[in-house]
Amino acid sequence: MFNLISSPVSIIKGAAESLREGNLVAFATETVYGLGADAENKAAIERVYRVKNRPSSHPLIVHFSSIEYLYQWASTIPKFAIDLANFFWPGPLTLILPKTALAKSYITGGQGNIAVRVPSHPQALSILTEFEKLGGRGVAAPSANRFGKVSPTSFQDVQSELGKYLSKNDQIIDGGRCSIGLESTIIDCTKSMPTVLRPGAITYEMIQDLLDIKINHFNGSTNTIKASGLMKSHYSPSAKVILSNEPKPGDGFIALAEFPTPDKVIRLASPTNNEEFARTLYSALRLADELKLTHVHILPPSEKNIGAAIYDRIKKASYSNN
Ligand code: TXA
Ligand code: MG
Repeated sequence: MFNLISSPVSIIKGAAESLREGNLVAFATETVYGLGADAENKAAIERVYRVKNRPSSHPLIVHFSSIEYLYQWASTIPKFAIDLANFFWPGPLTLILPKTALAKSYITGGQGNIAVRVPSHPQALSILTEFEKLGGRGVAAPSANRFGKVSPTSFQDVQSELGKYLSKNDQIIDGGRCSIGLESTIIDCTKSMPTVLRPGAITYEMIQDLLDIKINHFNGSTNTIKASGLMKSHYSPSAKVILSNEPKPGDGFIALAEFPTPDKVIRLASPTNNEEFARTLYSALRLADELKLTHVHILPPSEKNIGAAIYDRIKKASYSNN
């Protein structure tokens, strides 16, 4: 690091310039940290796939600073998608729509659809705004973790997970801890009715309240969309994850604070509500690996509000091990 003392403005501008030059910049969003690259730069996108060790058939989300860029990336936009974007952006919501010619197959994994999102983290929005002033139109940013692993929710997480795969001109920008801690809600808007493909902080209830139409829930069997977060197994630490309230001595345990820690069990998180559960889940799973635990027992909270997303991620983290 040469630039030890930088004002926040120079950090933001430096990140935007670096993205335009074709480098990778990992940055915080309100959900999780993303590994950003200019969405119009094929070589940079190819590096994102290599750094993540992600199969190129799994498409990326394009991020921009305001709804006006939606029309550059998406071609046929139903009214319900515009209503969702107007109401929930900037925020933890990703929309999947038919793509325009701007969205090349290296972003979409060869599919005819594009995923788009306006994040609400102020630093992410500033980077995107500066990037657009330099002529950029979108930053592709998957979660900044190796494929199949737990998403990072702090600067240190990204550094320890991806630091060794980044090049000297790439950057990781410290945006503090992510306030939500789970990835955005993904809604497929390519059919006559919206389908929630990945639950998140924007809940079914919030979507249903806004839209006066029926919403489908993804059932995993009929949908042909390739989405890594939609695989049965994902978000996995090295430790075996078990949904249970009966950890053995030496095991890790994650549950709401009201559930006591059994004797000789290592408590990894004691959140007091669902939002705190979401915010701390991934760092608790990372801690399990740092402590080299072999088993982590998780007691999911109720599925109200963000609880459905918590349950979805815990199920996927546990799947490969069952
Ligand atoms: O909260 C988030 O969404 C974070 C932050 C950084 O914005 N990003 C994120 O990206 O979680 P990623 O790539 O880790 O997860 C995005 C999911 C993947 O499962 C991907 O396959 C799916 O969205 N996806 C992306 N584009 C798609 C498309 N055109 N059609 C269907 N699924 C798509
Ligand atoms: Mg991911």
